[in-house]
Amino acid sequence: MSQYKAPRGTHDIYGQLALALEELDRISRSVFRKHNFKEIKTPMFEDVALFTRSIGEATDIVEKEMYVFEDRKGRKLALRPEGTASLVRAYIEHRLDMEEPIGKFFYCGDMFRYERPQAGRYREFLQMGAEYLGNPNPNADVEIILLAKEILSKLNINDVVIHINSLGCANCRPVFRQKLIDYFSSIKDLCEDCKRRLEKNPLRLLDCKIDSCKFQNAPAMKDCLCDDCKKHFNTVQTLLQTVGCEYTVDDRLVRGLDYYTRTVFEVRSSAVGSQDAICAGGRYDNLVKELGGQQIPSVGFALGSERVLMAAQNTGFFENLPKKHLVFIAVADEELFNEAFKFANNLMANKDNIKQKLNLPENIIIEGPFLNKNLKSQFKLADKLEAQKTILFGKTEFEQNKILIKDMATKTQTEFEYKA
Ligand code: HAM
Repeated sequence: MSQYKAPRGTHDIYGQLALALEELDRISRSVFRKHNFKEIKTPMFEDVALFTRSIGEATDIVEKEMYVFEDRKGRKLALRPEGTASLVRAYIEHRLDMEEPIGKFFYCGDMFRYERPQAGRYREFLQMGAEYLGNPNPNADVEIILLAKEILSKLNINDVVIHINSLGCANCRPVFRQKLIDYFSSIKDLCEDCKRRLEKNPLRLLDCKIDSCKFQNAPAMKDCLCDDCKKHFNTVQTLLQTVGCEYTVDDRLVRGLDYYTRTVFEVRSSAVGSQDAICAGGRYDNLVKELGGQQIPSVGFALGSERVLMAAQNTGFFENLPKKHLVFIAVADEELFNEAFKFANNLMANKDNIKQKLNLPENIIIEGPFLNKNLKSQFKLADKLEAQKTILFGKTEFEQNKILIKDMATKTQTEFEYKA
């Protein structure tokens, strides 16, 4: 046993999980592309100030969870804890507002947060996200929510609750903030985190895991929204109702990133345990400007791939992963090995349409031939690999320009013409 283990909070992805992730990736990409979102790949690390500025200094992510390091030239960098800040940075840097008539982008990749690991919570995890830049209207918020829902329903994850809230704007949030400060100041025995946050970021108290039960009568943002924000939030709800998307308004939903304005949402699944948010997002109307760009109101979401796959455990998604069609190449007579080896290469390249001629599907996986293995152990291996077909090179058939294809399930053999 190796003395080395994957670092705490990280995990190796292999076997069924690797296949499932590949399928989730394929499904998400096809949904993103269908809705006209284009991929952006950004670096895994960025200037630390980008995250401090966008996510907010008084957030858990910035205060406690970032992997910060200095490179050899003393630059302060951080592994990305999320994708939105990097995407917005790239959008401004490459003047994509001038280049793209509609700012719809998606990204997939590893994110890093120094959190306390538990089921569904890792220090390195995968996100797939979409950002819709430049549309200030509530239909963009709903399009983003529906996009997330569409990906989930393609994995048969329908047993979810969509929590939504509005965090208002620069006009109305200060009123709410003050009401919260007044309210929380009257409550005794706040936990250390809440005491600290009361000054800097009172909204965060609303989702404190320790104290939240003490906050039964906390003010709600919806009662403080200005007319424009109220109208926006009402239209979001009307549109959701129009398309038959169920949701619940959740006054306690404040999110852990400071860039949000107006609509925020989380999709929660009871199949995942305490880390039940499988995807989340919201509107961030001021972020592009804060990072040096124009005033470009935007909205987006990200799903946590590992959590989504946890939610898909009992939906039949894993059982219905595309079946591999493995073809095993076996050699009955060692002297035919070179011929079998050449055949395997031709089959890989589908030379002269060989797959069609042998009645094999296009997407086969090819294994073998193996040197120094007798025929019995070759067939044993083919069985272990769950090969669907075994192509057998035997001397008699080969001399007659033939090969045998054995169907491993029915145990029937068919002869095919094959000229080396
Ligand atoms: P977030 O809520 O921090 O939002 O993360 C989005 C999703 O990533 C979560 O709902 C969860 O599924 C997954 N996730 C977060 N932390 C972990 C973790 N430690 N381990 C496993 N999965 C995790 C954002 O990151 C925003 N950038 C979303 C967004 C995009 N808002 C607007 N645009």
